[in-house]
Amino acid sequence: MSFCDKVIYQIYPKSFCDSKGTGCGDIKGVISKLDYLQYLGVDFVWLTPIFCSPQKDNGYDVADYYNIEPSYGTMEDVETMIAEADKRGIGVMFDMVFNHTSTSHEWFAKAVAGDKAYQDYYFFRNGDRVGKPPTNWVSKFGGSAWEYEPKVGKHYLHLFDKTQADLNWTNPQVRQEMAAVVNFWRGKGVKGFRFDVVNLISKGAFESDGTDGKRFYTDGPRVHRHLQELNKDSFGQDPDCVTVGEMSSTTIQHCLQYAGAGKNELSMVFSFHHLKVDYKDGNKWALKPFDFVGLKQLLFDWQIWMQEGDAWNALFWNNHDQPRAVSRFGNDEKYGKQSAKMLATVIHCLRGTPYIYQGEEIGMTNACFEGIEKYKDVESHNAYALLKEKGVGEKEILRILGERSRDNARTPMQWDGSKNAGFTAGTPWIEVCKNYKKINVKKSKKDKDSVLEHYRSLIQLRKKHKVIAEGRFVPLLDGHKRVLAYLRVLGDVSVMVVCNFFDTVEVCDMGVDMAGYKVFLSNYKKSVVHRHMALRPYESLVLMKSQDIRE
Ligand code: GLC
Repeated sequence: MSFCDKVIYQIYPKSFCDSKGTGCGDIKGVISKLDYLQYLGVDFVWLTPIFCSPQKDNGYDVADYYNIEPSYGTMEDVETMIAEADKRGIGVMFDMVFNHTSTSHEWFAKAVAGDKAYQDYYFFRNGDRVGKPPTNWVSKFGGSAWEYEPKVGKHYLHLFDKTQADLNWTNPQVRQEMAAVVNFWRGKGVKGFRFDVVNLISKGAFESDGTDGKRFYTDGPRVHRHLQELNKDSFGQDPDCVTVGEMSSTTIQHCLQYAGAGKNELSMVFSFHHLKVDYKDGNKWALKPFDFVGLKQLLFDWQIWMQEGDAWNALFWNNHDQPRAVSRFGNDEKYGKQSAKMLATVIHCLRGTPYIYQGEEIGMTNACFEGIEKYKDVESHNAYALLKEKGVGEKEILRILGERSRDNARTPMQWDGSKNAGFTAGTPWIEVCKNYKKINVKKSKKDKDSVLEHYRSLIQLRKKHKVIAEGRFVPLLDGHKRVLAYLRVLGDVSVMVVCNFFDTVEVCDMGVDMAGYKVFLSNYKKSVVHRHMALRPYESLVLMKSQDIRE
């Protein structure tokens, strides 16, 4: 597989680097940091959407797929970025939001103006007899998934915000438009594509039942056919193009098809089950400590089944929709460095393609804002209103948002200890996390023991040792309730990864002969290799055994 030794870095442009002092990051800012990304060692940068958009959902509400949002820069800036990235051996991956468009898109405007052809680009439906929405489906951002459009006299479907109208993929015209967008950006030199919530593009029956409606449109009836067609008509024409689909509430069975070798759909998939292990009764806005055993089981199941089915996982803890993993599964105070490194080790040595979300590589943490006015995210504000309605107190809501809001991941990248963490000379669109003087790139670069150095080592490990890119995954210590361990095996080389997820010393019997294993990477000085190991808080070890270990 051409992408198994690659590492992908996700940029949230609005919060990455502001070259103009507007308070919002921009493309020129990204260009100015390409040397840093090369130093880190990544192969691709995925930029979340930079297309023209009213920014109701920070660019995931696209109003024009062919033009750049002016606050980010110009087409020329994008061309320069692609060329400059290429010079440094970095490919650019764009984010294709094809499940929906903004209601400011001209297609939607034409639909509302009465053009029947464009009405068929979306789902306009009559309400039921008493004027209620056509189904009881719930929007992922809260409330009904239908909005009444008086000019059309019908409701339109929006699985996300009401300004994000779902596209009708059964309409061949829509499918052609989407392939044309991909081809346009391929023509500009874009080498990879991430497809936003792409397993929701095929809607099944428009029916109501006692649930939120997910089952009618998740991994819908024609989704595989649509992806195969998109593949054939666009990115599939270039064998080096890397694609990843964001799969919402999907199943392994479907992912074997989405990301299976020779299935002609996508290179790999993001799935999210492992990031719901701290949702109480499946509710994102109800807190509970994370279920380690459940987390391990999910990671292992996906590893094993995708391997058995010859399919490929995208590996990640963080993105722009998730609170920071070090605050969530680690300990961002006493063991900030150790736990950030441990979490990185788990992901980077698994079978799949690791993704790093900006700031993760220096151990950035949740921001935990102390007032609702500091939050910018539409989902967080909707959750705030819904929790208020339910009678939850202000303090408790802020505690929940402090752990769960997407804005925890969207605070500005912490470049140095100067004002606004070196992100902007103006006023940042969202407040900088308070710990920027302690956690920043400049400081990390000077520290041999930094989280950043650990990420650099992990990236190099994948590049130097085929076993990490291609080896078989074998679970270890299945029953252990505090330690996650596995092997990667290729020929006579094996890599053993052992990680303690807790702030206590954990003893484990590795159950295998440890002779010949050498420590390749650890997050503590002087690690001891033994069949019976006592792992220190958040200790992680990468051990390697081979006839000819290359350093
Ligand atoms: C995806 C994006 C998220 C966005 C949503 C709707 O989940 O990652 O940021 O809000 O799709 O486009």
